Amino acid sequence: MTIDSHAHLEMADFDSDREAVVGRAAAAGLTAIITIGTTLPDCEKAVSLAGMYPLVYAAIGIHPHEVKDINAGTCDALRILAGQAKVVAIGEIGLDFFHDLSPRDMQLQWFAEQLDLAEELDLPVIIHDREAHAETLAILRQRKDRLRGVIHCFSGDQAMARECIALGFHLSVAGPVTYRKADQLRAVALEIPLERLLIETDAPYLAPQPYRGKRNEPAYVVETARHLAEIRGMAAGELERATEENARRLFALDGKKSA
Ligand code: NI
Repeated sequence: MTIDSHAHLEMADFDSDREAVVGRAAAAGLTAIITIGTTLPDCEKAVSLAGMYPLVYAAIGIHPHEVKDINAGTCDALRILAGQAKVVAIGEIGLDFFHDLSPRDMQLQWFAEQLDLAEELDLPVIIHDREAHAETLAILRQRKDRLRGVIHCFSGDQAMARECIALGFHLSVAGPVTYRKADQLRAVALEIPLERLLIETDAPYLAPQPYRGKRNEPAYVVETARHLAEIRGMAAGELERATEENARRLFALDGKKSA
């Protein structure tokens, strides 16, 4: 049993067969799927899916790609939405200086506003950092002891991993760790202390081997677990259980069962 700590079940990619996708996740032994909104309408959809499926929990936040389209009212709407049952985190939020789909000053501004919201609501954060490692670390350092959460699909180096761990964060590993050329990523993943490790699919993106190139889905997180367990020299079941417990504790899932 394990938990997919990061999927986008609300995306239209799953509109035609979402029920079957959740069913396959349950059959694969998943005990929870955190589904992550990236726009305000998708956050609302994530929350409603959490109400429909016992396995699904919601995280709400505006993705750095999308912050170019929001305004002060968006954070107010998120604050209200956070009061709904089974909302377990603020995210995904952060910085993406690789795609640069929103101007960087806006990314920085809305990352800060949403971190403020997480602090105010005492919720964990799910952070997206792509090619913005120094900026992300500087922000987390400034807020030391005020935040908890996870760097999703971690892509930094070992030094950054160590600092994030020292700052109290979890690091989440996604499907790319199973790719043949991912030696650097594997080296980092090997070093993450077991009690700070999460696993995720980022479905519908980043399918692990042997599904690379196809639509990803939460059931496939067991492939990432299997691969990680192998390189860490442990049983897959043990790694699944540890990451299950870590996600359950970080997102306080036991307190958020009922709708
Ligand atoms: Ni994502």
